[in-house]
Amino acid sequence: MNQPLRCGLIGGGGIGDRHLKAFEALEREGLAKLVCVADPAVERLAAIKLALEKRGVHWYANYQQMLEESDLNAVSIATPIPMHSRMAAAVLARGRFVYLEKPPVPLIQQLIDLTALDHRQKVSVGFQLISSSQIRQLKKWKVEGALGTIQRIFVSASVPKTTAYYQRADWAGKMMLNEEPVFDGPATNGLSHLLHSVMYLAGEGFEEFDLPVEVEGELYRARPLESYDVACMRGRTTTDVSFCLALTHAAEASPFHLEIIGSKGRAWVSKKGEEVGNDCGLTSPLPPYSDAFFISCREFVEFAKGNRSRAVTRLVDTRGYMLLSNGILISSGGIHSIDPQYLRTVGQGGEERYVVEGLAELIRRSTSEGKLFSEMDVPWARRGNVISVRSLRSVRLQDYMSH
Ligand SMILES: NC(=O)c1ccc[n+]([C@@H]2O[C@H](COP(=O)([O-])OP(=O)(O)OC[C@H]3O[C@@H](n4cnc5c(N)ncnc54)[C@H](O)[C@@H]3O)[C@@H](O)[C@H]2O)c1
Repeated sequence: MNQPLRCGLIGGGGIGDRHLKAFEALEREGLAKLVCVADPAVERLAAIKLALEKRGVHWYANYQQMLEESDLNAVSIATPIPMHSRMAAAVLARGRFVYLEKPPVPLIQQLIDLTALDHRQKVSVGFQLISSSQIRQLKKWKVEGALGTIQRIFVSASVPKTTAYYQRADWAGKMMLNEEPVFDGPATNGLSHLLHSVMYLAGEGFEEFDLPVEVEGELYRARPLESYDVACMRGRTTTDVSFCLALTHAAEASPFHLEIIGSKGRAWVSKKGEEVGNDCGLTSPLPPYSDAFFISCREFVEFAKGNRSRAVTRLVDTRGYMLLSNGILISSGGIHSIDPQYLRTVGQGGEERYVVEGLAELIRRSTSEGKLFSEMDVPWARRGNVISVRSLRSVRLQDYMSH
């Protein structure tokens, strides 16, 4: 296709702002044209709406009306998690390409259903971290054998979230909203890129993703949420790579560190993904830090225009992420509240955040030693069960909501 891809966006606020900026850049490159946006928050987003209308972009309060009335090739969906499944199904029913924000859906059965609807593989999931040149460099080393046989991948991250973050939307910090699954939390929303990146890096070919076979997980809440804000997990993939992740929104800030250990040496991405390194003398001809979000949007447009043979992350490629994220909830047996004696709060009002005493150090030790919190003499930690996830086809969130 030589013409710019005609695109619509569902969800113009929140992360929609980054989609709008990406569309502006893609328009400048002549690759795409943003035709319309759908978002019912007309008053809250009045200034954005006005600016778009001046550029000839039509605003709809109702996404179904937008889909009915607009002549589009592709639609980006940047709405709250509980809406993804029905919105993606509605766009697919009209035969259009879809860029679906991560996580695609919260539950494995929803992924199975949506994947069946997407039999022409038109959906691209916005797990943009794997489009970063740093993660791709690790994958290249792995696929080319520079790291030898991959034995272990571990990831730690502490990204504090404030009260304002949890108050920004009715679905934040929830397991369910109006009977729809949400499963919000660091492993399943804010830092979900890291779970998906582990499945990507463990996958054998450059475009292949691995699946977990066995999973152990522990989910905790520091802040009084319905959902969780502290997670650790461990497991093994079909290619016999073991992995361990510890992630939180309730400790002092510590940007993510992802490390692969192979028989020939180690390689890592750290400093929020800006730095890539190794201890086996490999040179990395990396371009300067580039915006993975924009690259991911551009890769989607190139795919929808027929210039790439497949989406970077198809729905089917998120099966590993989904089995892992759903498996840790089952393994944990729900979400355990951390006793207030182990917590403190920092800041006031909207800036208030929760800190679990010593958690930043625990996260670092957990991943480097491959131990779960319950194996580290932590008074609030509760051991989960080892879960075999390969044949997992359904999870009921309702079964894991009390504690
Ligand atoms: N890729 C990333 O780095 C990244 C970063 C942040 C959020 N996200 C993802 O983006 C999605 C949205 O997150 P958010 O924090 O921006 O959410 P949000 O609650 O701020 O909502 C985003 C927008 O969707 C709109 N919306 C709500 N209902 C709608 C409807 N029925 N039709 C159309 N629009 C509707 C809201 O008015 C809002 O403007 C989530 O899946 C989240 O995980 C991705």
